[in-house]
Amino acid sequence: MLRPEPMAPAADGFEALAQSRHSVRAYLDRPVPSALFERLLVTARLAPSGANLQPGHFWAVEGAARERLSAALSRAWRDQVPQAEDYGYFPRPMPMQLRKRQVAAAQALYGALGVARGDEAGRAAQFERNFRFFDAPVALVITIERDFGAGGFMDLGMCLHALMLAAEAQGLASCAIGALASYPQIVREALCLPATDLVVCGMALGWEDAQAPVNRTRTVREPLARYFQVLR
Ligand SMILES: Cc1cc2nc3c(=O)[nH]c(=O)nc-3n(C[C@H](O)[C@H](O)[C@H](O)COP(=O)(O)O)c2cc1C
Repeated sequence: MLRPEPMAPAADGFEALAQSRHSVRAYLDRPVPSALFERLLVTARLAPSGANLQPGHFWAVEGAARERLSAALSRAWRDQVPQAEDYGYFPRPMPMQLRKRQVAAAQALYGALGVARGDEAGRAAQFERNFRFFDAPVALVITIERDFGAGGFMDLGMCLHALMLAAEAQGLASCAIGALASYPQIVREALCLPATDLVVCGMALGWEDAQAPVNRTRTVREPLARYFQVLR
């Protein structure tokens, strides 16, 4: 007798976390207890790394240091100070297939905000919020020791995702901020960071403001067949 196909099981704890996490760009004005935040970092560091080298540093930026950093970054961006990244993030030039994904992500963001395509001022205002860590209660700068290659960045990336999911599990939200990596020298100077560290990205973390239109931004992923194939 033919047995019916088993139903796909409901999302378990991990799947549900991964599905509910999304980048959050507006936060409640409510602090994150430092003991809770440190617990997230300890959990994130359980991420694996090649030879267990555990690359990277997390710098929580607060008070006057945060003000200094945000002001310096906004100034550089407004003044169009030439950017000199520590590492290349995006392919240059961006292939058309990837460009389409980038445009779709931008449309999701600006669509949620109601910022029209040609509204340069509206887009600029949102972009500048990157440099204020979206006013999140926790502002992080993430660096990596200069001598690491792509493998170290991969390890650190796993740790970053683990941090985001650990936050999600505690009802917290986050957004990685690659925009910071456009001005590594300014970040190092404002925070007196060691010259031996490369600026990888920033991260905002805190309690989501569920009423903020920007947090309605949702993105989709490529179908499985676009990135997974069986070779025999
Ligand atoms: C390393 C990294 C850097 C990012 N940099 C930025 C950024 O500078 N500004 C921003 O608004 N979003 C940034 N994002 C968020 C991405 O746009 C977002 O992850 C992507 O569109 C998928 O959406 P989701 O996170 O809501 O699933 C970054 C994400 C990652 C992983």
